[in-house]
Amino acid sequence: MPVNLDISSMFTEYFSFTADVVVHAPGRVNLIGDHTDYNDGFVLPAAINFGTDIAARIRNDDLVRVVAVDCNNEMECFELSNIQFSDTSMWSNYVRGTVLSLLNVYPDLHGVDLMVKGNVPQGAGLSSSASFEVAIVKALAEVNQLPINGVQAALIAQSAERDFVGCNCGIMDQLVSACGIQRHAMLLDCDSLAYKHAPIPDGLSLVIVNTNVKRTLVDSEYNLRREQCEAVASHFNVKALRDVTIEQLVSEHNVLPSVLFRRARHVISENTRTVNAQTALVNKDMKTMSRLMQESHHSLRDDFEVSTPELNFLVEIISKVLGNKGGVRMTGGGFGGCVVAITPTELVSSTVRSVGEQYQSEFGLEPSIYQCSVENGAFS
Ligand code: GLA
Repeated sequence: MPVNLDISSMFTEYFSFTADVVVHAPGRVNLIGDHTDYNDGFVLPAAINFGTDIAARIRNDDLVRVVAVDCNNEMECFELSNIQFSDTSMWSNYVRGTVLSLLNVYPDLHGVDLMVKGNVPQGAGLSSSASFEVAIVKALAEVNQLPINGVQAALIAQSAERDFVGCNCGIMDQLVSACGIQRHAMLLDCDSLAYKHAPIPDGLSLVIVNTNVKRTLVDSEYNLRREQCEAVASHFNVKALRDVTIEQLVSEHNVLPSVLFRRARHVISENTRTVNAQTALVNKDMKTMSRLMQESHHSLRDDFEVSTPELNFLVEIISKVLGNKGGVRMTGGGFGGCVVAITPTELVSSTVRSVGEQYQSEFGLEPSIYQCSVENGAFS
């Protein structure tokens, strides 16, 4: 669903000529499988009806001009032959980084005029940056007529985030933003990048509740978790934790430091839960889905230690409403952000009511509640 049907008129008004293309890339919510992607494991995200819209027109020189509607039409310019990190315009680094990674694969790009606008809540764990990067790849691919598929687009977008912006993220966010399918969750194998889709059963809605807690320590704690996982993988002499079984891990219980043992136990058990969750969705087995989401939340809270009191509280009150007819857990990287609930449609209003009545009085903060639909990725 386009964020703003007017992005193309805004483009014309600003530049005084029309755009060649208008593209859209969605944000995402992860139903289960967190902190598994960078361990070559499994994730089960879905692309949502929040995203980034870009209007673009090709240029016949090597200039890139980009206007951010959400930053009072601030404009940034750079040349394809001289792309530098900007210390003053953080948002433009997503454009600079993405164009640079694209140039590594397609060195003959033309310059372009871009107008961008997004509505993914920022810092909420719903992948506003992946949606931005994938939309840029899509816009440049269309105006330059490049034969890029969704997986290539996701890898280019991820490399911008990792190598230019500086967040050592996995592939989940960019891949589902590129390749998601309407009304389906995507089971993605982050090692082979093979994926299959599981329909969200009829009669269920996705409700996302944003704690609206400003996330802190996200990057440092994220990178620390990643290093801890890599330390266990190297203890077992394998490329990634994906290749360690729970039995192997348990056999080293007395050898590994307790914190590393717990980090690895989360990742290994989360991989199993994620694969089982895809089967549960296909079988419309909400009882199992409910249990798996609860176990995932507990594991992220206790073993991986990325949850917060606000997330735990929301999970607790929503699971009282849903029982085993739906599932709820924290979603994304953690340290703030959102919980996701798969809710029978008839329980949406009681879920919303329960959050409205209890969250603010407990934490003095107003939550944001989004009832989301699941949409196509930019390259689907
Ligand atoms: C962030 C990263 C993803 C993934 C999640 C946790 O969203 O960008 O790659 O690691 O955290 O599952």
